[in-house]
Amino acid sequence: MSRNVVISGGGTGIGLAAARAFADGGDQVLLLGRREEVLRRARVPGALTCAADLSDVAGVRKAARFVADELGAVDVLIHSAGGSGRLEPQVERDDPLDRVADHWLVNFRLNTLTAVLLTEALEDRLAEPGGRVLFLSSIAAYRGSGSSAYAASKAALHPYAHALARRLGPRGITVNVVAPGYVEDTGFFGEGLDEARRAELIAETSTRRAGTPGDVAATLHWLASPAAAHITSQIIQVNGGAERGH
Ligand SMILES: NC(=O)c1ccc[n+]([C@@H]2O[C@H](COP(=O)([O-])OP(=O)(O)OC[C@H]3O[C@@H](n4cnc5c(N)ncnc54)[C@H](OP(=O)(O)O)[C@@H]3O)[C@@H](O)[C@H]2O)c1
Repeated sequence: MSRNVVISGGGTGIGLAAARAFADGGDQVLLLGRREEVLRRARVPGALTCAADLSDVAGVRKAARFVADELGAVDVLIHSAGGSGRLEPQVERDDPLDRVADHWLVNFRLNTLTAVLLTEALEDRLAEPGGRVLFLSSIAAYRGSGSSAYAASKAALHPYAHALARRLGPRGITVNVVAPGYVEDTGFFGEGLDEARRAELIAETSTRRAGTPGDVAATLHWLASPAAAHITSQIIQVNGGAERGH
């Protein structure tokens, strides 16, 4: 049976790979993201698209209205929207404290608020039983990263997901978090990493390779399948063992 699958950040990287995996399985996918042309170019078979800034209440209301009009119920909700803030337009600031405040606020908007607002807006539309909510965290939430703000904004999703799992469990809805390590071929690093940093990240893995969007999409697809019906409130790391270090 075809499911309705809503994917934030569905136009690029991990979200796009997930969109393709679900569409290939015959599901109806809705891609959300800010850049309309990116969503249009995604070319996921049969996918609907809606451009909206999900860190903003008005943007989330727009997306929720689109879901109400076009889909009705939501079987799978995947929160892949996010980023480290480095690629966002930077405001010139003289005071270093202002720069710190900007950096933390942008990270919490991109990674935490997008996921929380969209969840709350669509909660009543989740299919019951059988609905699935999936968040994208990061290895950074476990061990920090260059940006503590990014790490903290991802870690904030963990207790939110646990509370949501408690709230939605009685309705037959599961809630899980997928925390990737370094994943190539995404928009996350902009033009990409320099070769030395890339080699360092790969050396941290036991598998001696970078993750791919497909690796993460396969885990999301499985967590949304009947095979994972009794898995909820979990954080699944997809990082080739990198969190354990060398
Ligand atoms: N790549 C990695 O190594 C890695 C590792 C760990 C975790 N992650 C996490 O995995 C998720 C997917 O990232 P990715 O690697 O696939 O990078 P990506 O290609 O940059 O995907 C992020 C997507 O989020 C969308 N987005 C960002 N802010 C948004 C907003 N305010 N409203 C709506 N959409 C928004 C972006 O599109 P627009 O700019 O058009 O809005 C983009 O399509 C992110 O949450 C990221 O933090 C990535």
